[in-house]
Amino acid sequence: MAKGLDVGTMNIIAAERHGDKTTLTQQRNSFVEIEYSDVAEKMLARSDVLYIKKDNQVFIVGEDALNFANIFNTATRRPMQKGILSRDEKSAIPMIRLIIERLVGTPKESGEILYYTSPARPADSPNQDVLYHQKTIESILRKLDYTPRVINEGMAVVYSELADNQFTGIGVSFGAGMTNMCVSHYGLPVMTTAVARGGDWIDSQVAEATGHSKDRVTAIKEREFEINPENPQGEVQSALTIYYDNLVTYAINTLKREMARAKVEEGLTLPVAITGGTASCKGFKDLFERRIFEANLPIEISKVKMARSPLYSVAMGTLVAARAEEAETLEELVAVDSKK
Ligand SMILES: Nc1ncnc2c1ncn2[C@@H]1O[C@H](COP(=O)(O)OP(=O)(O)OP(=O)(O)O)[C@@H](O)[C@H]1O
Ligand SMILES: [Mg+2]
Repeated sequence: MAKGLDVGTMNIIAAERHGDKTTLTQQRNSFVEIEYSDVAEKMLARSDVLYIKKDNQVFIVGEDALNFANIFNTATRRPMQKGILSRDEKSAIPMIRLIIERLVGTPKESGEILYYTSPARPADSPNQDVLYHQKTIESILRKLDYTPRVINEGMAVVYSELADNQFTGIGVSFGAGMTNMCVSHYGLPVMTTAVARGGDWIDSQVAEATGHSKDRVTAIKEREFEINPENPQGEVQSALTIYYDNLVTYAINTLKREMARAKVEEGLTLPVAITGGTASCKGFKDLFERRIFEANLPIEISKVKMARSPLYSVAMGTLVAARAEEAETLEELVAVDSKK
C-alpha cells in the first residue's frame, strides 16, 4: 500500500486507501504559543489537541491553533510561508513534524512508499530555497520509516485531474503561498514553474488597499466573495476582484514565458486543470478561461477543467502517483485512477 501527502502553506492533507475508498485527513499548518500556566494541564491531556510543552510554554498545533488563539487573544504562527518552510520561524520544523506525524502515523509496513508535494522553484523569487524545504520534509518522513518520494505540486494536479487525457496537459494549483504550474506529457513533467503569490498575497494586498485587517479580508474572501468584475459588491469585494485578476494574469504570463524558455513544443493542444483553495471562489473558472485564451500561449488550449474538490485534489493526486508506482503500465495507471 502507499500514501500521499500534500504539504501546503495553509493546509496539510494526507490521502490513503481504505478498501475501495480514499480517506483524506487534514490539519491546519499553523500553531500558537501560550504560557503554560494559562492552560489547564487537564484541558490538554484529556482532549486530542495536538501540542508540545517546552519549558514554560505550550505550543498548540494544527486544527486547534486558531481556537486557542481566539480564546487567549493571541496570534497564530505558521511553519511555512510562500510555499516553503519559513526561515523567519525558528519553531517551524518541530511544529510541522508534529502535524505530519499526526497525519500519516506509522507505515503499515516498514518502508511504505509515500508521495509528498513540493513546489517548483518560483520564477519570480529564485532565491527561495525549495531544496532545503524538500529535504527537510523528506527527512521527517524517512524518520517515520516511510520511503518518501517527492512530486511537484502541479504534477499532482495532472495526476488527480487529467487521467482521462493520459496524464497529458497543464496542471495549475492556486494555493495560499504559491501558484504552481506544470506541463505534463504522458505522466512526465516537461516543465514546472511557480510564482511566490497565492491567496495570502491577495489577502495582504487587499488589507493594505482597504485598511481592513488581513484576517477580516480572508474571512470575507472565503465566506461570501464572488468574482464579478462587472458588478463588484462593496469595497473589499472590489479590491479582491482586482487582485484576483492580477494574480491570474501574472501566473499565466509566467507560464507563457517559462514555456517559451523551456521550448515546449509549439502547436500542441492541451487541457488545463485548475485547483487549489484560491481557485474555489465563484467566478474563478470564467476569469481564468478569459485570461488564458487572451494570453496566446504557444499551444492550443482544448478545455479548462476546474477540479471538483479544489482543496483536496492535490492530495488525491499524490495518492494516484504513489499507487502508480505499483502499477506497471499507463493503462493500469488510468485504471488505478478511475477507482479513486
Ligand atoms: N472559498 C474560498 N474562496 C476563496 N479562497 C479560499 C476559499 N477557501 C480557501 N481559500 C483560500 O485558499 C488558500 C488555501 O488553499 P490551499 O489549501 O490550496 O493552499 P496550500 O496548499 O495550503 O498552499 P500552497 O500550495 O500555496 O503551499 C488560502 O489562501 C485560503 O484563504
Ligand atoms: Mg497547495
